[in-house]
Order: sequence, then C-alpha cells, then structure tokens
Amino acid sequence: MRRTMVAGNWKMHGTRSSIAELINSLRCLALPSSVDIAVFPPCLYIKQVVDGLKGNLIQVGAQNSAVEPTQGALTGEISPSQLADAGCSYVIVGHSERRRMMGEHDGIVNRKFAAAQACGLIPVLCIGEALEQRESGNTLKVVSYQLGSLIKELGMSVFANAVIAYEPIWGIGTGLTATPQQAQDVHAAIRTQLSEETSEIAQGIRLLYGGSVKAANAAELFSMPDIDGGLIGGASLNANEFGEICRAAGN
Ligand code: 13P
Repeated sequence: MRRTMVAGNWKMHGTRSSIAELINSLRCLALPSSVDIAVFPPCLYIKQVVDGLKGNLIQVGAQNSAVEPTQGALTGEISPSQLADAGCSYVIVGHSERRRMMGEHDGIVNRKFAAAQACGLIPVLCIGEALEQRESGNTLKVVSYQLGSLIKELGMSVFANAVIAYEPIWGIGTGLTATPQQAQDVHAAIRTQLSEETSEIAQGIRLLYGGSVKAANAAELFSMPDIDGGLIGGASLNANEFGEICRAAGN
C-alpha cells in the first residue's frame, strides 16, 4: 500500500511575520498520521519553518536546489547538501514555473534530481503539459518524454526513493483543475511507463496531482486509484484549507 502524501508549495510567498502566523496555524491542525505531509517554503524561511514545526509531523522541503550536490563556487545557488543541513527532507525539481521562466530543460532537471538524492533528499519531480500540447492531443507524449529523459540518464532505480507530481501547466494557479478522470488517465500512463521498466518500483512510487487542488475537489481527485495525494500551491497558504486537504488524503 502506498502512503498518501500532501505537499504544500508556498512558491514565492510570505514574510517572516506571515510565515510565523502560518506556522502557528499549522501547529494547531488535527492532521492524519497516515499521510506524509510536507511544506515547501521559500528558501530564506526554511530555518524558521523547520524550527517552528519541530515536534510536528509536517516535514519541510525546498522548492529548488543546485545542480551540484556539495558546496562550491556557484553564486546565488543553494546546494542540496546545505538544504539537508538546514533540515529539509524533500526538494521539488522541474517545476513548470522554473522550466518555463528559468529555461530549466530536462538535462538540468536530471542533474538536480541526482544531486538531491546524493544528499539524502527525496526529489519531487514535476512533469506536465501545456494547454496547447493537451489540445493537440500530445499530453501523454510530453509527460512520457519528460519521464523517459530521466530514466534514460539516471536509470530506473532512482525512482525507488522519489515522488512524481503530475501538474498540467494549464491547471496551475488558474482555478482550472483536471477532472479526476483526466488526472487519473495521465497518472495511469506514468505508472505503466515505469512498470515497463520495473514493476515493483512503479507500484511503490507516489504520484501526486497538482493544479488548483482545494479542499472542495481534493477528495474526489484522491479517490482515483493512481492519485496518491497532491502538490498544492495557493491553497497551501491557508492552514485550514491545507488541513482539510490533508484529511481528504487520509480518508
Ligand atoms: P496551484 O495549486 O496554486 O494551482 O499551484 C499548483 C502548483 O504549482 C504546485 O506546485
């Protein structure tokens, strides 16, 4: 049985004081122990969140990390070894906002994935298609290409300790959620692609859905057989809403 997971990607939101409030509210939530829960604050606030959530079951991750595992001359970057040192357990790699705005192509994403794992972090690999790719019937081709690139470069065994998030770009921050069936179809295709390589790893890996997930639609999405939880953006900034999504994943 796969444990469900709910991850809150706070993106570039927050100040010291708003994050202190969010931490306090998160600490008051009744959360299901059957769900792995993590939040991904902006890097600057990771220490505040790690310290603030000490003793709580919510884990902390980073939204990005460097292509190199260890410290070195890489101005402006943060190495996954530093993130692990700061108390992170996870790191998001290949988010579509970074692929599109920072030009992070599959080669960079794959290096970041490998560097993160080398430092003991669990990568949350994001894949997903743009609206025009869906409309032209290329969704599965795009997703399979992104996944295939990583399998080709790093091998299948890396997925024994990773999470994959399917996030259709047209569903991110738009209020347009994929229907549970649309999401399930892509998740099933991802699992089939992985199982053609190694069935055991394919059955064990968590596949999260991301894109306008809210308390109101979470339960229906999470009831699909290949959706093992969610990667939540906007709704994760509201502790009560986030708590409800976590409880939906626990049912
Ligand atoms: P929203 O939930 O705000 O659509 O964002 C999804 C996302 O990009 C999470 O990584």
